Amino acid sequence: MRSLLLISVVVCWLCTVAAVVRNGSSDGFQKPRDTDTVISFLENKLMASSAPMVPLTLIQGADSKGAVCLDGTLPGYHLDRGFGSGANSWLIQLEGGGWCNNHRCCVYRKTSRRGSSKFMEKALAFTGILSNKPEENPDFFNWNRIKLRYCDGASFSGDSQDEGSQLFYRGQRIWQVAMQEFLSLGMQQANQALLSGCSAGGLASILHCDEFRELLPSSTKAKCLSDAGMFLDAVDVSGGHSLRNMFEGVVTVQNLQKDLSSTCTNHMDPTSCFFPQNLISDIKTPMFLLNTAYDSWQIQESLAPPTADPGGIWKACKSHHLHCNSSQIQFFQDFRTQMVLALNSFSTSDQNGLFINSCFAHCQTERQDTWFAQDSPQLNGKRVAESVGDWYFDRAENVKAIDCPYPCDTTCHNLIFDFNPSALEISASSRFCFPLFRASLVLLVLTELILRFLV
Ligand SMILES: *[C@@H]1O[C@H](CO)[C@@H](O)[C@H](O)[C@H]1NC(C)=O
Ligand SMILES: *[C@@H]1O[C@H](CO)[C@@H](O)[C@H](O)[C@H]1NC(C)=O
Repeated sequence: MRSLLLISVVVCWLCTVAAVVRNGSSDGFQKPRDTDTVISFLENKLMASSAPMVPLTLIQGADSKGAVCLDGTLPGYHLDRGFGSGANSWLIQLEGGGWCNNHRCCVYRKTSRRGSSKFMEKALAFTGILSNKPEENPDFFNWNRIKLRYCDGASFSGDSQDEGSQLFYRGQRIWQVAMQEFLSLGMQQANQALLSGCSAGGLASILHCDEFRELLPSSTKAKCLSDAGMFLDAVDVSGGHSLRNMFEGVVTVQNLQKDLSSTCTNHMDPTSCFFPQNLISDIKTPMFLLNTAYDSWQIQESLAPPTADPGGIWKACKSHHLHCNSSQIQFFQDFRTQMVLALNSFSTSDQNGLFINSCFAHCQTERQDTWFAQDSPQLNGKRVAESVGDWYFDRAENVKAIDCPYPCDTTCHNLIFDFNPSALEISASSRFCFPLFRASLVLLVLTELILRFLV
């Protein structure tokens, strides 16, 4: 009798555990999921500074137009007003922070600042391209500077919703409502404007560049800058397509097909049309692409994510490029070659600019140390801020710089990742999204307890 009870209890628990784990493996183990840990790490490097804090403003009434964050809360932005000769110039910086590529991760994202304004910082420090000091930001310091918060999970591009789960995929509407707000705050009279963004926000500035141009009077000098937005459709270290799989999830969960550039979707599948390499040569507005040739985020999440490296043989190399052997460096050189090839047609246009430095980093505009400091990264003797400024203001002939391959650049500020087992443990678990991972842990522990109790 007792053994019968024991067996049935065990079988019952094991089924539940197996179901959760199987759901996890079909949905969470195969593809890289929640990239929060890597992004948080990169953001933490956005060190605190003495910069003044700029308060968050929620866009009142946005909800009546359906322009809401994943959880239905109001979208928001931070604005620091321009002054002097910059009072009529506008810089819009689109925030980044990965994507959610399945239902579960979008639900999880609702409980973070990337899916809900309830959790957004009430004020942010403005540094680098957002700084109001000429010694930190020589060309844009006195412009109206805005950081538009990212809470839709798909680079400001979705327009659908999941009724059952109360998930709002309204990035496109957030974009539109925010732009209307900025126009009414004075951007309508802008003589100069720059749409910028980093990472997922850098992709958004590519996706929205021509729309931005069209919102402004034709007399406005309007251009776009994408920082670390050149996400390549690359083959990972196991021969798979980790990033393509992730983007496919984003496009599917938010039903982006109808929202992407029809110039692209006319001849390519929707997932391909979320990749900048298939979009940049069709952008009519002048565009500047700033990216490292060995983008840290792409190495971590696209080339060698744990799912493509189950044995962990890339862990050391991923954490610090000095731990890579020659064949691993060669893999990164091939990635750089793909990057340069992808820029080929884009770079033939006189109005475009490039700064592709051979560093291991991700996002160089908002960090003071990479944007404009004594020892900032340089290409052809110019720092990032100087190159972007020369391109924006048409001050120089040659505004397209592509670095020689690693290790020739001695001006890099490379990112070094923590390489201790517990940090990697956290990183791995975040990939499954916490709730499910915790749930399966709890079940395992309970199973263990029941077994002990009965035996
Ligand atoms: C597994 O996933 C399906 C749909 O993806 C869901 O309906 C089901 O409840 C999940 N099962 C468990 C045990 O989580
Ligand atoms: C480099 O390291 C990888 C992973 O540890 C290994 O598979 C490969 O054989 C090594 N290559 C060389 C040339 O040492």
